[in-house]
Amino acid sequence: MKVLFVASEAYPLVKTGGLGDVACSLPLALHEAGAEMRLLLPGYRDLLNKLGEVRILGWLELWGMGRTHSVRILESRHPAYPFPLWVVDCQALFDRPGNPYLQPNGHDWADNAERFTVFARAAVEMARDALQIGWAADVVHAHDWQTGLVPAFMDTLTKRPRSIFTIHNMAYGGHFSRGDFTTLHLPDYWWSADGVEFYGGLSMLKAGIVYADAVTTVSPTYAYEICTPAFGYGMDGLLKSRSYKLHGILNGIDTAIWNPATDANLAAGYSSEAIQPGKGRNKAALLQRFGVADPSPYLQLPLLGTVGRLVEQKGVDLILHAIPDLLASTDARFVLIGAGHRHFEQRLRELAAQYPNRVFVYIGYDEQLAHLLEAGSDMFLMPSRFEPCGLNQMYSLRYGTPPVVLYTGGLADTVVNASHPHLQDGSANGFVFYEPTSRALKAAILRALDCFLHPETWQQLQMTGMQQDFGWEHSAAKYLNLYQHQT
Ligand code: ADP
Ligand code: GLC
Repeated sequence: MKVLFVASEAYPLVKTGGLGDVACSLPLALHEAGAEMRLLLPGYRDLLNKLGEVRILGWLELWGMGRTHSVRILESRHPAYPFPLWVVDCQALFDRPGNPYLQPNGHDWADNAERFTVFARAAVEMARDALQIGWAADVVHAHDWQTGLVPAFMDTLTKRPRSIFTIHNMAYGGHFSRGDFTTLHLPDYWWSADGVEFYGGLSMLKAGIVYADAVTTVSPTYAYEICTPAFGYGMDGLLKSRSYKLHGILNGIDTAIWNPATDANLAAGYSSEAIQPGKGRNKAALLQRFGVADPSPYLQLPLLGTVGRLVEQKGVDLILHAIPDLLASTDARFVLIGAGHRHFEQRLRELAAQYPNRVFVYIGYDEQLAHLLEAGSDMFLMPSRFEPCGLNQMYSLRYGTPPVVLYTGGLADTVVNASHPHLQDGSANGFVFYEPTSRALKAAILRALDCFLHPETWQQLQMTGMQQDFGWEHSAAKYLNLYQHQT
């Protein structure tokens, strides 16, 4: 089966969050399961710089925003991928440094509508072998609003591959204006409540949902939640009416990249059979990384970590509120890594300055440091207000770092609360709280800190998480079933 996997980011070439991880690890799992994969990505400048030898597959003339673009399709190889990568090379749209979606000032690139329309058009041409290279897709799998027009364009073809659209986050709708719709030369009949029109504008996310043969999202609980007003961003009705084709498939993780026994980013490897002294060495290295010259006095004291995009979704404000009280009433230390909204970055910097020996902050994106944090922390904080799946809680489970999470989305599907019955039956692997308030988060952290004082129980929690199977095998099989029309 030939599968064209279309995404706007993929680790290690370009990554802003979990989509990047999934757009690498899922195609690898599908390849392992026997699918013939091609991964199509936009030719951002930083991505092109990471590719080795490239071969030009051909040129496409594609309509953009009131103009056409001559787009080169490149084929390349990368050591992370056992199959060819295809890249949409269009200098006017993608040859710029930095974040794929945002300008350096944090605002969206002004031409995002055009950039991702051209990308979607290129995807459809490649799927139907417009360049006549002898490879036509049986299935096209598109992800998030950036590729939402792919199923829509495919719907206009008479003979076409099957289309699958995966929602990684309803919060990003790819909303543009009616004027953009016209200038992009999209088919007039799409402009309706049953098409791409959404509150008077164009929604690329909606296009994906409406026109794909099957829609998936990244956890069973989120699939349910997005059909409700609280999580549906105005599309809950639409999703509910399409529930016959909506599937919640839990993300897996790349268990080779995220393996505490072999992770080259760590100061020492460890496994569920021997958590210490390896994990302790990582704690020392993490503290040293933040300037603690002699970490030994702190090694027995709890270290609470978090990594993530500093946005409302992640409940950063809940953590910020809880920290001062926790510093006053416990001996916990905090290490926080993230980048995002300026005001969250500023408040984190202020906290670190105020409590230099107890709050350690790194503002920025650092993949290696994220690995060290997962290994070196005792607990991982993830109080997301909503979380379609969440990968960090799975990474932390695998690294013996019990997560503290709100009961929502993929967090609810992966973290089992350390309640008395779950501790007794051996299923507990973390700490769950049930309302998005800093009071509830604080209470959960206090429970975790109390549990941390009981080494046997703590070790049991760590081992349960570390021994769980979060690999892709099971979920990749579900995608393959969907690709083959089996629901
Ligand atoms: P989301 O996709 O909503 O950001 P996930 O938990 O699914 O959340 O995935 C986040 C991914 O991005 C993880 O691999 C995480 O380690 C990584 N990440 C997020 N922020 C940073 C950062 N500042 N530095 C390093 N890695 C980060
Ligand atoms: C999104 C979601 C996150 C999910 C990731 C990968 O960024 O916010 O919960 O894990 O996509 O599917």
